[in-house]
Amino acid sequence: AFVVTESCIQCKHTDCVVVCPVDCFREGPNFLVIDPTECIDCAVCLPECPEEAIFAEGDVPEGQRDFIALNALLAKHPNWAPITELKAPLPEHEKWSQVVNKRSHLDR
Ligand code: SF4
Ligand code: F3S
Repeated sequence: AFVVTESCIQCKHTDCVVVCPVDCFREGPNFLVIDPTECIDCAVCLPECPEEAIFAEGDVPEGQRDFIALNALLAKHPNWAPITELKAPLPEHEKWSQVVNKRSHLDR
């Protein structure tokens, strides 16, 4: 499956969700995940993300591999609903785009 990684946190542009043919993105307060049980590995979402947050599972960088399990876990979170339509990015996305270590800011 494809995986959303740290760069998405506090940005959440949502360009990715529009193109997914199987609607497998799930939305939390300041991050999205991909449900790995539904993703068909089509790769069309990858180039859509302005933060380059999306990777094929095998290409997730060292130091971000825990996001593979995190996508699976949060996809089943009762409050994380499917998202299929574009919305405005989070208001401080420009500031957060520059931040490299922000996983402690992930809200569930
Ligand atoms: Fe959806 Fe395809 Fe991206 Fe998987 S790889 S999340 S199926 S757009
Ligand atoms: Fe996040 Fe990028 Fe999608 S910032 S919401 S993975 S377009």
